[in-house]
Amino acid sequence: MTTTMRPFHPSDLPGMYRVCLLTGAAGQDATALYRDPELLGHVYCGPYPTADPDLSLVVVDAQGVAGYVVATADTAAFQAWCERAWWPVLRTRYARTDDPGDGTQDHVLRTRLHEPDVAPAPSDAPAHLHIDLLPRLQGQGWGRRLIAGLADALRARDVPGVHLGVSAANARAIAFYEHLGFRRETTYDWGHRLVLDLRRDSY
Ligand SMILES: CC(C)(COP(=O)(O)OP(=O)(O)OC[C@H]1O[C@@H](n2cnc3c(N)ncnc32)[C@H](O)[C@@H]1OP(=O)(O)O)[C@@H](O)C(=O)NCCC(=O)NCCS
Repeated sequence: MTTTMRPFHPSDLPGMYRVCLLTGAAGQDATALYRDPELLGHVYCGPYPTADPDLSLVVVDAQGVAGYVVATADTAAFQAWCERAWWPVLRTRYARTDDPGDGTQDHVLRTRLHEPDVAPAPSDAPAHLHIDLLPRLQGQGWGRRLIAGLADALRARDVPGVHLGVSAANARAIAFYEHLGFRRETTYDWGHRLVLDLRRDSY
């Protein structure tokens, strides 16, 4: 089978969760950081295609789902949807826990489920995204194609811009985003918020 980019299908979710975990430590494999391998996906992947399946794209090769972009067109509406339809069940399943002191980070994401990030989006970039590709697909243009495909879908909805958060430790991703035309909007202690202006013809 040739490697293909296509719209999200619900059967992609387990593979997307796997990709999320295998790239979840500032672009590197996060498997050793989490006792529960689904937690990262619950926070950073699953809610997006569940809330708005038309804004998720996957890259699939002979071994399965190997990359994706997930997004929302309207961050505030997405946060409200998560409060209503996503977090309540997960809050019942995942109680807050203390740091076990062994380096695992489940407690951080369990807290995030109960106290989600509700930072307002930049006024010119109400959309936000997450993109992840397994190492076997990196550096072959799939990241650019996923961003371009999402940008087309957002422009079709007259969305003026899209933002994302990236860890300061993920120098490779920052360079990728800036190469594609994302600009640094805010710098935090953990990293940067980057914005892409979708009203420009190209990036
Ligand atoms: C970051 C990531 C999405 C980039 O996707 P990719 O498929 O590897 O990148 P592409 O091959 O599509 O590169 C697109 C362009 O960016 C450029 N680029 C990519 N990485 C770059 C880097 N580190 N420095 C400079 N340019 C870079 C490429 O040269 C290419 O340029 P061109 O199209 O003008 O020739 C991908 O590597 C990835 O998923 N990494 C692991 C998970 C991750 O870090 N996700 C982001 C979390 S915020």
